[in-house]
Amino acid sequence: MVKVRLKGLKKYFERVKAVNDINLEIKPGEFVVLLGPSGCGKTTLLRCVSGLERVTAGRVFFDNDDMTYLPPKDRNISMVFQNYAVWPHMTVDSNIAFPLRVKKYSQKEIKKRVIWAAKLLGIDNLLDRYPAQLSGGQRQRVAVARAIVMEPKVLLMDEPLSNLDALLRVRMRTEIKKLQENLKVTTIYVTHDQVEAMTMGDRIAVLEQGILQQLSSSDEIYHNPVNTFVAGFIGSPQMNFIEVEIVSQNKVLYLRAKGLEIPLLDKFKDKVSNFSDKRNYILGIRPEHIYITGRAQTDQVASTKGKVYFAELLRSDTVIHLEKEFGFLVVKTPGDLKVKEDKELEVLFDLLRIHLFYKDTGKAIF
Ligand SMILES: Nc1ncnc2c1ncn2[C@@H]1O[C@H](COP(=O)(O)OP(=O)(O)OP(=O)(O)O)[C@@H](O)[C@H]1O
Ligand SMILES: [Mg+2]
Repeated sequence: MVKVRLKGLKKYFERVKAVNDINLEIKPGEFVVLLGPSGCGKTTLLRCVSGLERVTAGRVFFDNDDMTYLPPKDRNISMVFQNYAVWPHMTVDSNIAFPLRVKKYSQKEIKKRVIWAAKLLGIDNLLDRYPAQLSGGQRQRVAVARAIVMEPKVLLMDEPLSNLDALLRVRMRTEIKKLQENLKVTTIYVTHDQVEAMTMGDRIAVLEQGILQQLSSSDEIYHNPVNTFVAGFIGSPQMNFIEVEIVSQNKVLYLRAKGLEIPLLDKFKDKVSNFSDKRNYILGIRPEHIYITGRAQTDQVASTKGKVYFAELLRSDTVIHLEKEFGFLVVKTPGDLKVKEDKELEVLFDLLRIHLFYKDTGKAIF
């Protein structure tokens, strides 16, 4: 197992800063997910680690070995691509064996390893087939088998599941995760799917415009996002963001917007009590942390009312869009709830689950 360390990594394509000064340390055997919107630099970063892309500046280390200028073949890495790139003119067997042949392994060793990898992926009964005779999921398994057959030090995967249908994605997600746990290979996995990131990653690295925004466990990312970008990117429906000012009344501090007054609990109060600027803050609260009266999981709540503009009946949940003076407030409630459009509805903010951000920088205060 190897530790991967990226130091001041930059990759510019002329004026585009695809990867912009990334510092990142991945523990031996760890599964780190690179998550971010399209164009944020995930693939480029992965290609820099693999050696397929020459870095503009910075260093790539595997343990203490500087890999920055080594060609991919000398890095002991394997990569799985989005469009699963299995060779159509080769059987499954030959596809998996290919990296071993390149490295001139003996026939006996090749056979042994191919069977080992094919069994791990549950495709050992398909070895004689050609890719055209396989389903998408099976082809994806071939690509993964081919990637692990060399027992690489570092496994790099770029959206390997994005071509699969929803059900298969969920299954492959678990399978890849289990496989990685068994192999204990240090893994970097790229996705723009937050559910994949949350369920698979030991830690998640959230990227935006080539910059690392946060590297934490899924728990931390969900509960303590460092800024509005991370807060808004993780969670569905998206976190509500409301422009507020801080007001003081009878020794209580409130976050106030038109038609909304949220008192601050002591643990938050201390963080803002000495702020001289009372304006320009953003209150964040996730739709699942606003409750319908009678359904609150805590008594530390503050109530507000609004007219139901629209209710999305997902049956497992109901997502209500409430009309407020400041815009729409999105509330996620259990699916059994009957709500009528145009009716006035009272909802309760969970006071322990609110977030506050600076409006100008988006940085989290709590
Ligand atoms: N070879 C290239 N030449 C010029 N610009 C490039 C090149 N490769 C990537 N870019 C640019 O670098 C930025 C990052 O691209 P990258 O492919 O790394 O994004 P990504 O996060 O993988 O996106 P996606 O989720 O769509 O795959 C983009 O603005 C892209 O247009
Ligand atoms: Mg990409």
